[in-house]
Amino acid sequence: MERKPRPFVAGNWKMNGLRSAIHEIETVGTRVAVTPTFAADIAICPPATLLGAIAGAGLPIAGGLMLGGQDCHAEAKGAHTGDVSAEMLRDAGARCVIVGHSERRADHGETDAEIAAKARAAWRAGLLAIICVGETLEEREAGRAVEVVTGQIDGSVPDGATAETTVIAYEPVWAIGTGKTPTVADIAEMHGAIRARLGDSFGAAAGAGMRILYGGSVKPENARLILGTADVDGALVGGASLKADDFLAIATVYA
Ligand code: PGA
Repeated sequence: MERKPRPFVAGNWKMNGLRSAIHEIETVGTRVAVTPTFAADIAICPPATLLGAIAGAGLPIAGGLMLGGQDCHAEAKGAHTGDVSAEMLRDAGARCVIVGHSERRADHGETDAEIAAKARAAWRAGLLAIICVGETLEEREAGRAVEVVTGQIDGSVPDGATAETTVIAYEPVWAIGTGKTPTVADIAEMHGAIRARLGDSFGAAAGAGMRILYGGSVKPENARLILGTADVDGALVGGASLKADDFLAIATVYA
């Protein structure tokens, strides 16, 4: 089967960005708008406060740039102090949401089952779910990386996942924010294993069509190599997404 999903490059701002940084998002939107050759979906997931600020100001984020959230609660509303629902993100202009990022798995003890519930919440609200998986350094050194990650796929990706509703982000925990990246061979091996598991679990069309992003220290300097790797359909970019020029330098691999 020919496999040509449209690439996807998403920026994860994490807990960074005051309103004074919104112009970086506007710059990305403008550049995407004036680059008709961009053959990728481009998203930025800023803090929820900035989604609200952008929506509240009616700022025209140009060019089909997609905005997204970084997490959502599984419920649509209710007594969950401090949480944000997928419906609220959608209301604030989001069209996608990251769930199961390793920082949330570590900081908030999120389990695969909770992450699957969040992914279902994203679908319920009409958001594309970006479901994150990835092994720790100890797990890789113990030779268990593929087993751990395919296990996370089994537990975190809900039944019924399709290429239209779901994106997978493979982010080795030890590569996030460290400047370290796996070898191209290791990335290809893991993405191939993820794709095979998606095909087994969700059918051939989902297996072939679902986008699998690589994340973890993607920079302008290494983007072309990583994004050119087999079964890599884009990137989830943390630190390098905070500046429009760096993020665009990565995304323009697809321009
Ligand atoms: P990084 O983060 O690009 O800063 O390593 C990636 C991520 O955690 O999504």
